[in-house]
Amino acid sequence: MDFVTLFLIVSAFFTASAQQIQSNVSRGSSLTPTTNSTWLSHSGLYAFGFYKQGNDYAVGIFIAGIPEKTVVWTANRDGLPVSNNTTLLFASDGRLVLQMGQEQLAVVAESSGSASASMLNSGNFVIYDSDRGIIWQSFDHPTDTLLPSQRLLAGHELFSSISDTDHSTGIFRLKMQNDGNLVQYPVDTPDTAPYAYFATSAGGFGDNGTLNFDADGHLYLLNATSFNIRNLTDGGYPTKETIYLMRIDVDGIFRLYSHNLTQNGNWSIVWSSSSDVCDPKGLCGLNSFCVSYDQEAECLCFPGFEMVNEGNRTAGCGRSFSAEGCNNKNEDIKYSFEEVANITWEDVSYSVLSVPSKESCEQACLEDCNCEAALFKDRTCSKQRLPLRYGRRTQTDSNIAFIKVSISTPTTLQNLSDGDWGLGGCWTIEMGRGWFG
Ligand SMILES: *[C@@H]1O[C@H](CO)[C@@H](O)[C@H](O)[C@H]1NC(C)=O
Ligand SMILES: *[C@@H]1O[C@H](CO)[C@@H](O)[C@H](O)[C@H]1NC(C)=O
Ligand SMILES: *[C@@H]1O[C@H](CO)[C@@H](O)[C@H](O)[C@H]1NC(C)=O
Ligand SMILES: *[C@@H]1O[C@H](CO)[C@@H](O)[C@H](O)[C@H]1NC(C)=O
Ligand SMILES: *[C@@H]1O[C@H](CO)[C@@H](O)[C@H](O)[C@H]1NC(C)=O
Ligand SMILES: *[C@@H]1O[C@H](CO)[C@@H](O)[C@H](O)[C@H]1NC(C)=O
Ligand SMILES: *[C@@H]1O[C@H](CO)[C@@H](O)[C@H](O)[C@H]1NC(C)=O
Ligand SMILES: *[C@@H]1O[C@H](CO)[C@@H](O)[C@H](O)[C@H]1NC(C)=O
Ligand SMILES: *[C@@H]1O[C@H](CO)[C@@H](O)[C@H](O)[C@H]1NC(C)=O
Ligand SMILES: *[C@@H]1O[C@H](CO)[C@@H](O)[C@H](O)[C@H]1NC(C)=O
Ligand SMILES: *[C@@H]1O[C@H](CO)[C@@H](O)[C@H](O)[C@H]1NC(C)=O
Ligand SMILES: *[C@@H]1O[C@H](CO)[C@@H](O)[C@H](O)[C@H]1NC(C)=O
Repeated sequence: MDFVTLFLIVSAFFTASAQQIQSNVSRGSSLTPTTNSTWLSHSGLYAFGFYKQGNDYAVGIFIAGIPEKTVVWTANRDGLPVSNNTTLLFASDGRLVLQMGQEQLAVVAESSGSASASMLNSGNFVIYDSDRGIIWQSFDHPTDTLLPSQRLLAGHELFSSISDTDHSTGIFRLKMQNDGNLVQYPVDTPDTAPYAYFATSAGGFGDNGTLNFDADGHLYLLNATSFNIRNLTDGGYPTKETIYLMRIDVDGIFRLYSHNLTQNGNWSIVWSSSSDVCDPKGLCGLNSFCVSYDQEAECLCFPGFEMVNEGNRTAGCGRSFSAEGCNNKNEDIKYSFEEVANITWEDVSYSVLSVPSKESCEQACLEDCNCEAALFKDRTCSKQRLPLRYGRRTQTDSNIAFIKVSISTPTTLQNLSDGDWGLGGCWTIEMGRGWFG
């Protein structure tokens, strides 16, 4: 987009927000990926419709009025991208459906009986009945992003995306719990403390709290009677020519971003839920641990382990030697230990011993065929089976970790395809560039 176009869009944005005019879409209207691909907000800043995903298209809302098109909502995010011969139809029954020929591919909005729709200047796509009552709105179905004036209600959560270019559900979530606590967890875990890696600890302040977001970047929790119980940011950031969004990023951290509309620049981070990129639990898969270098997370395998899937760090690491545990009757296999300092993992030790030295901790693990690894700290020896989960380097805790390794068998990657613990991989990914797809 050249400068003149950008300038026009930016000008339109401010004119429109002053006049509060809304675009109006009527039943029977349709969009296709290649012609008439979006319905724009009156300001021109937000667009609802098709955006490119790989060689195909997805349907969602994106910020169209800036050089870096930024997706803020995705319809049917875990569905397959669609090809260029699909149609998004605001059907005569009031629903918003995705079709290929006569075949219905997906229902984007269950809005039967609606009469019209608008892409609002707030970034909310709203479907109305004939009395202008709201039947459906995208703000009620957030994916990974919140926009100013959008709320996250109790019991609801945001899910990170798989990558900056694929907005399918990723591996982290941010939940506004019914107890008033806003908490981050990996996906597919219970809502309990051992899995949490961020919490406002506002629990106990009452039910039905909400996460709120104002146009000045103020992020805060309200209780059920709209009393401010916690500020995440104090707000008061510049609003002139500046827009904000909050998103749980691919790396599991949620951040507040700002964008200066008069500059051809990028989004800048205003606030982050965490300053340590290794905080999100599960970033590194099983049997690997997270180390941060220069604000980039790297996943390393424990000694004696190899990446299961090069290029997929959440897949974790598997044993690089075969046969271990109590089922092994091979007397030829001898074990020794490798030490790693200042490492922690999820403490699910099956036995905790009081021992005088790290040598006695090693010996205790060696004599126990169930023991695959042990943590020694302050004369305590915690024995652990595999897999090792949520491993990371720590600066505050001086542990010594022992990992049992074989010293007498050839190193061949064990076959781990039977739902075994070992599936995983560790690799380094590039983070920090191309945040927005
Ligand atoms: C939107 O369009 C519908 C159908 O054409 C019409 O009835 C309604 O009055 C319009 N609303 C606005 C705010 O223009
Ligand atoms: C695009 O939409 C406009 C307004 O609905 C319509 O007049 C025009 O014919 C459409 N263009 C194409 C190529 O479908
Ligand atoms: C649609 O995609 C097909 C390949 O999937 C391509 O051959 C065709 O040219 C595309 N049509 C348009 C209008 O872009
Ligand atoms: C649309 O394109 C897909 C893939 O290119 C093709 O399989 C399908 O038959 C096409 N459908 C229509 C109705 O043209
Ligand atoms: C919200 O907080 C205020 C102040 O602490 C308290 O008076 C009120 O009862 C709370 N509301 C609920 C529903 O807990
Ligand atoms: C929270 O919401 C539930 C369901 O809407 C309601 O039953 C309950 O009374 C609410 N609690 C408070 C403190 O408002
Ligand atoms: C939260 O921030 C708002 C606006 O900056 C301020 O008025 C309020 O006192 C703060 N509340 C708390 C609980 O810190
Ligand atoms: C946005 O950029 C313009 C041009 O560089 C600058 O004058 C203005 O102060 C910036 N606004 C903010 C809020 O940083
Ligand atoms: C925006 O970010 C990209 C990727 O980090 C960088 O290459 C580009 O120079 C940045 N643009 C500006 C104007 O800062
Ligand atoms: C990476 O591995 C995880 C865990 O095995 C799997 O769920 C995910 O689909 C893999 N991702 C890719 C891009 O292959
Ligand atoms: C482990 O941490 C301690 C202090 O917490 C530090 O003195 C020591 O150098 C660290 N060791 C390694 C290998 O990083
Ligand atoms: C590994 O497991 C797969 C799937 O169960 C099987 O097809 C393959 O033959 C196994 N390979 C070895 C070396 O056991």
